[in-house]
Amino acid sequence: IVGYYNGEFVTPDSGIVPLDERGHQFGDGVYEVIRCYNGRPFLLDWHLDRLWMSLQALRIVPPFTKDECASLIERLIAESREPESAIYLQVTRGSAVRNHLFPEPTVKANVSATVRPVTSQTSKAPGTLLMMADERWANAWIKTINLLPNILAKQTAHDMGADEALLVRDGAMIESASSNLWFVRDNQLITAPADRYILNGITRRFVMELANQLGIVVRESKLPVEELTKVDGIFITGTLTEVFPIQRVVTHPDLPYASLPAVKGSEPLAADKCQ
Ligand code: PDD
Repeated sequence: IVGYYNGEFVTPDSGIVPLDERGHQFGDGVYEVIRCYNGRPFLLDWHLDRLWMSLQALRIVPPFTKDECASLIERLIAESREPESAIYLQVTRGSAVRNHLFPEPTVKANVSATVRPVTSQTSKAPGTLLMMADERWANAWIKTINLLPNILAKQTAHDMGADEALLVRDGAMIESASSNLWFVRDNQLITAPADRYILNGITRRFVMELANQLGIVVRESKLPVEELTKVDGIFITGTLTEVFPIQRVVTHPDLPYASLPAVKGSEPLAADKCQ
């Protein structure tokens, strides 16, 4: 695994991050995960555009231009010598004595990255989603490194034998913990609109383009939980998730939405799996 910190290649466990680092102390930073296929970064321009949107949203001054960032990605891929990899790129507001207020403008953003090998599963067995309340803040569109609600949701889903969370906000099924959520109904695709409450996925956008090429209608709308029984199919998308089919949605008595009628073909998880 290749590591990178502010201009140097490092080992990921090199302990190089200062204690007074704003990403480390406040979660004050943003990130991208970019998939590399056959030694090439996939949809890099879209990732860079989104990174710049996230930086701007948090008022972090980019420490490089988009071209410089693209060359950094190329260097990371070359250094790793991995044709199939996941590149994690993080930009934080920098290092300064802990203070909620932004540091002086002279403090430069910190850039770190890792490259690790990954492989795609060619045949994906359909998975399970656990329906949960979306507890994230109202700016889920910014790809910040503050991911506590996401990791807690995903861990709970995992603990209950599910693959991912199905997050519900204001009665609508909008996203998963680290993937976008899609429904198939009447030969159309339905996904939540890219408003402030979801992360506007690069894979989501790519799937929209593919659907467009294939003449498949995509509706951006928020599906209320009650409509779950009326869908013909479900899948989730993400840079590492790729396109992952979902077979069933489950609920749990200790979580909201327990009384919801299960999706077609679903059955509740065995109680022993739900502890
Ligand atoms: N997650 N929604 C959320 C909340 C996400 O964290 C992600 C990506 C997506 C899919 O976006 P994209 O297609 O651009 O990867 C949707 C990344 C991969 C992660 O945190 O590891």
